[in-house]
This record gives sequence, C-alpha cells and structure tokens, in this order.
Amino acid sequence: MYRVTLFTIALVGASALAIGNSMADISGSAHDFSGDAWSSGRICLPCHTPHNADTTVAGAPLWNHEVTTSTFTVYSSATLDATVGQPDGASKLCLSCHDGSVAIDSFGGTTGTTFVTGGELLGTGLDNDHPISFTYDDALATADGGLHLPSATNSGLGDTITNDLLFAGTMECASCHDVHNTNNNSHLLRVSNAGSALCLTCHNK
Ligand code: HEC
Ligand code: HEC
Ligand code: HEC
Ligand code: HEC
Repeated sequence: MYRVTLFTIALVGASALAIGNSMADISGSAHDFSGDAWSSGRICLPCHTPHNADTTVAGAPLWNHEVTTSTFTVYSSATLDATVGQPDGASKLCLSCHDGSVAIDSFGGTTGTTFVTGGELLGTGLDNDHPISFTYDDALATADGGLHLPSATNSGLGDTITNDLLFAGTMECASCHDVHNTNNNSHLLRVSNAGSALCLTCHNK
C-alpha cells in the first residue's frame, strides 16, 4: 500500500517534470517572435526555412535570416593562447541580429526595420566579450594549463565538452547560450551559471 502510494507520487512528479520541460523551450523566450506581426506567427521562420536557405555561412542550419557583413574587433590579451579570428559559423548567425547592423525582421528576402537595442546589443566591438570562433582542443588546454581537456571532460549535459558545447571543435556564442532555451536557464544559458558553474565547466580554476 505504502509502495503503491510512493509509486503514484513518483508518477505525478514525473508528469509535473514533463510539463516543466515542455515549457522550457523557445516558446515564450526572448527568441519567440511569433507574437510580432511581421513573423506571421511562425516561431522558426525569422531564423530558419525548409527551402531556399542561405548557404553562405558554413554549418548554418537551413538559415533564413539576413547575414551580417560587419567587420569585428576581436578579443585579445597577453595571456590568450587561442588564435581568434573573425566571428564565423553559428556566431555569425547570432551577430546577424546582435551586432545591430541587420534588422531582426530582415529574413526570407525582406528588409525589416526593428533592431536589437539595450543590453542585448553587442555591436561590432567584441574585444570586451568572451572570445569566440576559435578551436578549443586538448592541445590548447595543455598549452593554457588552466582549461579542462575538452575531449575527456563531462559537460554536465551527458557527454564531453567537445560533443555538447563545441561546433566542429570551435568555441562559439552557442557554446554558452542555447538559442532555443532548451534548459530554461536565465540568459538562455546551456548550463546554469549559478556559482559560476558554466565557467568552471571549461576553466580549471
Ligand atoms: C532567433 C533565431 C532562431 C529561432 C527563432 C530558431 N532557431 Fe534554430 N537555430 C538557430 C541558430 C543560431 C542555430 C545554430 C546554433 C545552434 O545549433 O545552437 C540553430 C540550430 C537549429 C537546429 C540544428 C541544431 C540543433 O539544435 O538540433 C535545428 C534543428 C533548429 N535550429 C530548429 C529550430 C526550430 C524547429 C525552430 C522553431 C521551433 C527554431 N530552430 C527556431 C536560431 C534560431
Ligand atoms: C533573429 C534575430 C536574432 C538572432 C538570429 C539571435 N538573437 Fe538573441 N535576441 C534577439 C532579440 C530581439 C533579443 C531580445 C528580445 C527582448 O527584447 O527581450 C534577443 C535576446 C537574446 C539574449 C538575452 C536573453 C535573456 O533572456 O536575457 C541572449 C542571451 C541571446 N539573444 C543570445 C543569442 C545567441 C547566442 C544567438 C545565436 C546562437 C542569438 N541570440 C541569435 C534576436 C536574435
Ligand atoms: C563563455 C560564455 C559566453 C559566450 C561565449 C557568450 N556569452 Fe553571452 N552571456 C554569457 C553569460 C554568462 C551571460 C549572462 C550575463 C552576464 O553574466 O554578463 C550572457 C549574456 C548575454 C546576453 C544578454 C545581455 C543582457 O544584458 O541581458 C546576450 C544578448 C548575449 N550574452 C549574447 C551573446 C552573443 C551574441 C555571443 C557571441 C558573440 C555570446 N553571448 C557569447 C556567456 C557567454
Ligand atoms: C565551453 C568552454 C568555456 C566556457 C563555458 C567558458 N570559457 Fe572562458 N575560455 C575558454 C577557452 C577555450 C578560452 C581560451 C583560453 C586561451 O586561449 O588562453 C577562454 C578564455 C577566457 C578568458 C580569457 C583568457 C585570457 O588569457 O585572456 C577569460 C577571462 C575567460 N575565458 C573567462 C570565462 C568566464 C568568466 C566564463 C563563464 C562566464 C567562461 N570563461 C566560460 C573556454 C570556456
């Protein structure tokens, strides 16, 4: 009897968790533009299209948004070991709204008029932001001495840093952020940064 009750509670708990997960999604997040008239209520459309996608950015997933052509100032420091180039891959997609040069509603061949503003605007000066668009491999970790080996360290999401957080071995905006808000962390983070947990996933400090 007692066991049955516990089992029932476990089931109720599991379904509550399932409801929680279905809400932890792009719907209702900062990237849900379905309420804006210009999106025609289609939540994926400002960023993706099933056909006629833009293939100019290597690795872009069926991309529908106009791509930035800005030149960026990249991060540098005396202690940086990585070779940081111009933003590419998935980071270039983020910056196609977040550098403020292309309107949020410029997609599918139409030119929009609504731009990212305020704290969400990174601009083209990325020298005051965490470096992105560089290879993070075991050789870099060894050279640096203060980084975990990406091929051998658990990300906390079930697999290694390389498999869960890197894009073909490179560090990008989306290494820290999940544009689709899968885990419902604040600031769309892939791993919660409570207690600097996100930072400590890669940095051995
Ligand atoms: C604000 C822009 C934006 C919106 C809206 C958006 N995505 Fe994405 N999506 C991206 C970016 C950027 C990437 C590449 C970075 C990454 O994979 O995290 C991506 C990657 C993907 C991928 C490949 C990687 C993966 O996560 O499996 C799929 C599939 C995908 N999106 C599907 C969708 C669907 C379906 C929707 C609508 C429900 C959607 N996206 C809405 C920007 C967006
Ligand atoms: C289609 C345009 C567009 C693209 C592409 C896009 N964003 Fe955004 N993002 C926005 C807008 C607009 C906001 C602010 C929404 C608001 O007013 O709250 C935002 C908000 C955010 C926020 C703040 C969320 C919060 O709750 O604090 C983060 C973090 C973010 N974006 C990261 C990214 C990353 C990383 C990528 C690429 C993987 C990306 N965005 C791609 C338009 C975009
Ligand atoms: C190393 C991890 C990391 C990388 C890489 C990273 N971010 Fe963030 N980002 C964060 C954290 C953590 C926050 C939460 C606010 C804070 O701590 O400053 C944040 C906040 C933000 C915000 C919200 C700012 C606000 O005031 O609400 C936006 C937008 C954003 N990031 C976009 C980006 C874009 C675009 C890129 C790539 C050019 C990027 N981030 C790369 C970790 C990262
Ligand atoms: C996905 C892995 C990853 C995450 C998460 C991450 N970093 Fe990094 N970070 C790196 C790598 C790799 C470098 C490049 C180190 C180098 O080449 O010297 C770096 C560089 C840096 C640098 C510049 C080092 C220098 O010598 O100039 C600082 C500071 C830093 N990260 C702080 C943070 C903080 C704070 C957080 C959390 C908000 C964070 N990182 C999250 C991987 C990560």
